[in-house]
Amino acid sequence: MGFNIAIDGPAGAGKSTVAKKAAEELGFIYVDTGAMYRTIAISLLRKGVDASDSEALERALPDIDVRISYQEGVQHMLLNGEDVSNLIRTPEVSEAASRFSAIPAVRKKLLDLQRNLAATEDVLMDGRDIGTAILPDAGLKIYLTASVEVRAMRRYKELQEKGQACTFAQIRQEIEERDYRDMHREIAPLRQAEDAVLLDTSDMDPDTVVQKIVAYAKERI
Ligand code: DC
Repeated sequence: MGFNIAIDGPAGAGKSTVAKKAAEELGFIYVDTGAMYRTIAISLLRKGVDASDSEALERALPDIDVRISYQEGVQHMLLNGEDVSNLIRTPEVSEAASRFSAIPAVRKKLLDLQRNLAATEDVLMDGRDIGTAILPDAGLKIYLTASVEVRAMRRYKELQEKGQACTFAQIRQEIEERDYRDMHREIAPLRQAEDAVLLDTSDMDPDTVVQKIVAYAKERI
């Protein structure tokens, strides 16, 4: 059994940026669970399944094969063998992933994949319910957050750099809606685990956050 680190928090808190670097410094495997939900979402979007149509969803899920592959240490998402890693970071997929992830059958589908990875390897896994539901015995739990303004600005800049048309107000609203949905769903809602360390990154640069996570981990390993 490996040492597990769980990092949870809302959209735009900087989870993937710092988690990737912290994992690298510690020699851990980085597992981005949001990417798994995004992969299912893109498949359901392509199939035209509506999140409110539970029958269509139950019919579609068995044919969706989600796998992870690591290429030079970088996580790639395979959807029925197709590498969709470059297609899953759009606002449309973010929104759909948030909607579909509230459905129990979708969460169940990813549970084993996530737990199996953590069972054999030293992993640093990020998401919404890692410390509370997926890996409740993780050796270190971090709840990473930042103000809505800061998170929206980070996402806005990221999308602008990619040349995707959007306004700050639009991104802020999308983040607020996603926060609300992710925190208020019935199954595995986003919340801070009681034994998680809270890190508010509003006024911290990514390197400072990485060093804090690495230091917490080294105290516990
Ligand atoms: O971390 P992210 O923004 O890539 O996640 C996309 C959506 O997937 C997020 O809005 C909610 C869902 N998600 C989840 O429900 N549980 C996780 N462990 C990770 C992501």
